[in-house]
Amino acid sequence: MRILFIGDIYGRPGRNIVKERLPEVVGDHAIDLVIANGENSAAGFGITPALAEELFERNIDVVTTGNHVWDKQEIIDYFQTVGTNGHGPARRLLRPANYPADMPGWGLYQGMKGKIPYAVINLQGRVFMASNDDPFRTADQLLQKIEAKVIVVDIHAEATSEKIALGWYLDGRVTAVIGTHTHVPTADERVLPKGTAYITDVGMTGPYDGVIGVKKELVVGKFLNGMPVRFEPATGDVRLSAVVIDCDEETGRARNIERLMIS
Ligand SMILES: [Fe+2]
Ligand SMILES: [Fe+2]
Repeated sequence: MRILFIGDIYGRPGRNIVKERLPEVVGDHAIDLVIANGENSAAGFGITPALAEELFERNIDVVTTGNHVWDKQEIIDYFQTVGTNGHGPARRLLRPANYPADMPGWGLYQGMKGKIPYAVINLQGRVFMASNDDPFRTADQLLQKIEAKVIVVDIHAEATSEKIALGWYLDGRVTAVIGTHTHVPTADERVLPKGTAYITDVGMTGPYDGVIGVKKELVVGKFLNGMPVRFEPATGDVRLSAVVIDCDEETGRARNIERLMIS
């Protein structure tokens, strides 16, 4: 099985490059399953039901999120539309699984791609981020109830150390541990010894002529004077950042992970 994982889709520029380039990426790399982090789809801040549906219409199978998931409050109602449809679009949108237990939404999706069962787990780190439940032990608990061999984890976290530690912790137990959130791709993609594909951060899918997605003048100004400023998305130098994971669907072990940056 070949899995494409797309890093944080940022605003309209990110959505547009997904629209324009995803079909050829899927074709060129013989992709079977597409996962994307969509936490910044709505002009950098959160995701609305309409934007989630747009991403699913692009043939993204599962959309993960992170700390920005509640920025657009309509998404709370969207989670509540799931009802008994355990595989509809609203159920294939995830928020980190280690949020407090009574929060709306789900942090685990289990589905089928053709005849291949797979699972996606969304986690959020705790270092330099809002405190949540322990992502390591949350992963342990979720893995106990997953029967699929192909399991992809999005670790949405700030600290490189926390992500690398989780990669080692889950090595051999999941197909891939993929870092998101910093919007800066790292060059450390590898398959760990027991068969887990790992990268500390996939990087952002959006405008690179800015500061992690925001117009650079606004962020530079904030560093200079500390005054509150309304962040607006940058527009230029749009790139799609992703990884392709090749795995054995019988065992769930990764064979290869390749980093992509497409402009
Ligand atoms: Fe993000
Ligand atoms: Fe984030």
